[in-house]
Amino acid sequence: MEKFANKKVVLAVSGGIAAYKAADVASWLTKNGAQVHCVLTKAATEFVSPLVLQSLTGHPVVQDEFVTGPGWGIVHIELAAEADLLAVIPATANIIAKIAAGIADDALTSTVLAATCPLFMAPAMNTHMYENPATQQNLQTLRQRGWQVMSPANGRLACGAVGRGKLPAVEEIEQELERLFLAAGTKAEKSDRLDLAGKKVLVTAGPTTEAIDPVRYISNRSSGKMGYAVASQAAARGAEVLLVSGPTALQPPAGVRFVQVESACQMREAVLAEYAKCDVVIMAAAVADYRVAEPADHKIKKTGDNQEMTLRLLRNPDILQELGETKQQQFLVGFAAETHNLEEYARGKLAAKHADLLVANDVSRADAGFDVDTNQIIIFAADGGRQAYPLTTKLAAADYILDAVVEKINI
Ligand code: C5P
Repeated sequence: MEKFANKKVVLAVSGGIAAYKAADVASWLTKNGAQVHCVLTKAATEFVSPLVLQSLTGHPVVQDEFVTGPGWGIVHIELAAEADLLAVIPATANIIAKIAAGIADDALTSTVLAATCPLFMAPAMNTHMYENPATQQNLQTLRQRGWQVMSPANGRLACGAVGRGKLPAVEEIEQELERLFLAAGTKAEKSDRLDLAGKKVLVTAGPTTEAIDPVRYISNRSSGKMGYAVASQAAARGAEVLLVSGPTALQPPAGVRFVQVESACQMREAVLAEYAKCDVVIMAAAVADYRVAEPADHKIKKTGDNQEMTLRLLRNPDILQELGETKQQQFLVGFAAETHNLEEYARGKLAAKHADLLVANDVSRADAGFDVDTNQIIIFAADGGRQAYPLTTKLAAADYILDAVVEKINI
């Protein structure tokens, strides 16, 4: 079957020199089975011919909000309503600013404002325009609203300058779109997958940091990607999600309540404050097992020629275990990241922590575990069940986990 059969994409093209590259993306999406509807700004038509995009996609190209014709209602509303994904390629500084401000003064910006599907953009512009705080602030705003924003590449720009601002290679854009498709599913699939509607889901993610002094800490390599993926997919499936996260470089997913913590003790407080109200708790955080017994309140200095320093560590509370021991209606999911004896340790943790499911992954693999976008998981159930899944994106793995939860709680 074609990769993107039944997927509908709005390809929004704004007026930068890289607009002609949108034709390659349109062609690739179409060849892989997607229905691609292009919407262009007036400036974009100066850089890429609408006839090229129309010929490649087999669909009329929208340039005007006020067109009518057979099958067209209010064009931007219909385009937005049917889209499984909206991608702005390239996104100019101007279009980014308009989108961030919620302006809808042409077919492209009106479609974007009406869209409720996953949103993607690949900015491309002159380096100074990209680095201008106005553009950076607008991109930050869009990321916080859930846009997937690709970083532009470094290289020689159309204006002759060399720097950041080039549209990333078409293959890289395609990879990113494929990842988003995998995660999003089609609108049609999603409409019967609001299977966590009405459920309160708490997710923990990231590492915890345990202070040594005001400038140093002990932590681990957790990136938070798995937990953020679970939070984002649970929200997409209709749950009311609270994400309690240790420090990460990630943007909180759209539509998710977010509490930032640093230490294991803070994470415990934040989780316990919400636990009574939760239906499902998914503990993806890599909580530090130990904290520094007496963190210094000033920066510790090297003294004399002392070649050794000893830190006394105390065992942190095991949050999951505490939840397991006091659980009422809550369905508990734990994680186990192991480098060896995966099954044995995973089953041991499932029992010791009174969890209902335990998601195990082998972090010694380069393509699973910390700071990569893929994962290979095995889910162990308290009733003895075991299900191994193929290597996939963390977003797709998140859906496998949520599928297993839904199956067990019989919603
Ligand atoms: O014992 P281990 O750290 O491997 O257990 C992993 C699971 O337990 C994860 O779900 C993690 O979030 C949770 N955990 C916890 N509190 C700790 C240590 C781990 O909640 N102090």
